[in-house]
Amino acid sequence: MTTTVVTNIGSLVTNDPALGEGPLGLIKDAAVVFDSTGTGTGKITWVGPATHAPAADTAYDARGRAAIPGFVDSHSHLVFAGDRTQEFNARMSGKPYTAGGIRTTVAATRAASDADLDANVRRYVSEALRQGTTTIETKSGYGLTPHDEARALRIAAAHTPETTYLGAHIVAPEYADDPAAYVELVTGPMLEACAPYARWVDVFCERGAFDGDQAREILTAGQKRGLIPRVHANQLGHGPGVQLAVELGAASADHCTHLTQADVDALAGSGTVATLLPGAEFSTKAEYPDARRLLDAGATVALSTDCNPGSSFTTSVPFCIAVAVRDMGMTPDEAVHAATLGGAKALRRADVGRISPGARADLALLDAPSHVHLAYRPGVPLVSAVWRGGVPELV
Ligand code: NIG
Ligand code: FE
Repeated sequence: MTTTVVTNIGSLVTNDPALGEGPLGLIKDAAVVFDSTGTGTGKITWVGPATHAPAADTAYDARGRAAIPGFVDSHSHLVFAGDRTQEFNARMSGKPYTAGGIRTTVAATRAASDADLDANVRRYVSEALRQGTTTIETKSGYGLTPHDEARALRIAAAHTPETTYLGAHIVAPEYADDPAAYVELVTGPMLEACAPYARWVDVFCERGAFDGDQAREILTAGQKRGLIPRVHANQLGHGPGVQLAVELGAASADHCTHLTQADVDALAGSGTVATLLPGAEFSTKAEYPDARRLLDAGATVALSTDCNPGSSFTTSVPFCIAVAVRDMGMTPDEAVHAATLGGAKALRRADVGRISPGARADLALLDAPSHVHLAYRPGVPLVSAVWRGGVPELV
């Protein structure tokens, strides 16, 4: 085994309260040692004060910069073609966002070659990596036929194990007059074609997409096929999505923008993570979710990008952190925690989202003395080095 020590870290977020101060387990003047053999699965072997660090084969001097766990972006839609610049332009001059815009991307995605879709996913995953993201979930949902959904998941699975079957993004245009038949397709032949390439099943439970009964049918069919549910819930208005997610033991309820007190209580009393996606509210000029209310109630909160060409065309977790701190009632500590360990919990992953012995060696160095600068210096490319599974990806 070849090892690397990253030393002289001015301030290290471990997310392990046993290792340092507060909920972030902060260590000043720290070092991290990890397996850097190069397989991409290297683990952290030691974390602590730099003065106590054991010797390693290679030393990297962080020169006082801050280090954080690589971001865990637990919600994105990267398998698509084309973009929706015109729709964005129209929104910025006052037109509202609707679920119907998804159809534009479905047409472009169906028409694209496998190679083009693969190149797009590669491009956005590497764009995310440059901004500190070392784990990313991504969904199908712009194919809406058994062939096109399975193709999207097969392409996604070559880039990440965190793949989500979202055949129930909207009713496919061919089934506009018969949504029940589309639900049958999604829970039958489409699910069969997609399950081999997916870990999760998702549904857009919203007016204009799928109602509570349809969503329950789709999620339970996925569960029977071994997929774990997560739900697009309560994004555009109040609805049954959050309660359904909790009832089915979903890993996460995503968006959570319009919540009743009963929704907040249900999330707080459950193992379902509330995943907040402020890029969507930013890009649709909508009201942000109230993170403070969820945190004060005791819910687990994750922060992710929702990167997609319609409602949130950003791969930048630092951008989401800055917005969450400015407009959603999160402290910088809470936002960084939600974008790392919160995302890991939303993906039920114990090996990422923290810098502690046994975790995968995923870390990002910031060109700043503290993780707080992620919110304090919005829009500035602070991520200056990244290791993923012990491999220097951007060093
Ligand atoms: O998470 N809400 C559903 N899906 C995406 C939007 C997709 C689109 O507009 O293309 C979202 O915001
Ligand atoms: Fe989404």
